Parts: sequence; C-alpha cells; structure tokens
Amino acid sequence: MSIYGDRLAQLEAIVEKGKTLIQEIINEEVKTSGISPIEHFKYRIKCEESLINKLNLRCLPVTMESIYTNIHDLVGFRIICSYTSGVRTVANKIISNENIDIILSKDYIKHPKPNGYRSLHLIVKLKDSDVPFEIQLRTIAMDSWASLEHQLKYKREIKHKDLIVAELKMCADEMSSTDLTMQAIYDLIKEEN
Ligand code: GTP
Ligand code: MG
Repeated sequence: MSIYGDRLAQLEAIVEKGKTLIQEIINEEVKTSGISPIEHFKYRIKCEESLINKLNLRCLPVTMESIYTNIHDLVGFRIICSYTSGVRTVANKIISNENIDIILSKDYIKHPKPNGYRSLHLIVKLKDSDVPFEIQLRTIAMDSWASLEHQLKYKREIKHKDLIVAELKMCADEMSSTDLTMQAIYDLIKEEN
C-alpha cells in the first residue's frame, strides 16, 4: 500500500498531464524550428523513503495534511536541454501555458548555489488541481554535474571533504563556461541556416 493512499491516483494523473504538456512543447518546437530544445526528460513520484526523510529533516509530522501542505515535489519533472537558450525557451512556454499556474520560480542558473549547483526550478500547479509539483530545467552539463555531486553527497564518510567541495565547485564553473561556448557555437551555426 502506498504512503499516498487514495491520493496516489491524483499524483499519477499529474504525471500524465505533465508528460503530455512537455511532449506538446517538443512537438511545437520541432514544428516551428525543426529541432527540439529538449534532449530528454524524466519524472518521478517521490518515493516513501525520501518523503519520510524530508519530513523528518524538517521536523514535520508524517500525516497526509502535512505532506500535502509542506512538500512541493511529490511529483517532480526534470527537463534536460541541449543549450541554455533551450532552458529559457522551454521555461517560458511552461510559464505562459494557460493550464499552469506558477507558484514559485528559483533561478539557480542566474544565481548558482554556493556549491556550484545550477538549474531552473519551477514550482507549479495545474489549473484544475490543488497539488503543486516541481519542474527542474537544466542543460546536459548542469545535469551531469548535479548527478555526480548528488552521488558524492550521500556517501557517508568522505575523506578530503573540503578539497572535494572546492574541486566540485571548480568543475561546475568550468562546465558553465563550456555551456556558454557551446551556446555561442550553436548560435553561429543557426545564423548560417
Ligand atoms: P528540497 O527540500 O530538497 O526540495 O530543497 P529546497 O526546498 O531547498 O529546494 P531547492 O529548489 O533548493 O532544491 C530542490 C531539489 O533541487 C533537490 O531535491 C535536488 O533535486 C535539487 N538540488 C538542489 N540543490 C542541489 C545541489 O546542491 N546538488 C544537487 N545535486 N541537487 C540539488
Ligand atoms: Mg526536492
């Protein structure tokens, strides 16, 4: 039995509608510019273990009311774009979509976290639902950094922690610089077509 009980179906419906929405954005972009800005996307319903960890970490009760009031990524989408411009194009399409309300936008691309994390986070809601969910948008480079950093973060004992943190920050900055160069190359190629 799922921790979400009767409400699991509601979360599954959000996943389906979110998938359709993202696919519509891809189709539209392919139709107008011949190429999709989205390299791939994934989605998940938060698993019980991660949900309980998060509630405990924030000293929140494990009740349905608490879950639905406090946790805004029960459903999460991650959209990986080839270029930074694609992140902006897709985000703007989501923001202007008439079926979506934006609750919060956190721009860790303009304002990276101190550790180097970059991503654009949107907390949104479908117009016909009261359950918020999270959409993370980032480039391939930002995504590869985040998944490696995530793995390391959850290792219990790390020797040379300070060194690793500093090296990771440097990698994030180098990858961001590569993103800039790749964007410039892409823009040059596009200009010629
Ligand atoms: P959560 O309580 O985890 O949702 O964090 P938050 O409320 O501070 O929200 P935030 O938007 O900062 O982060 C939400 C999600 O973004 C996380 O669950 C991760 O998926 C991702 N994220 C945020 N910061 C980092 C980071 O430093 N490294 C990595 N790898 N992922 C991050
Ligand atoms: Mg989260």
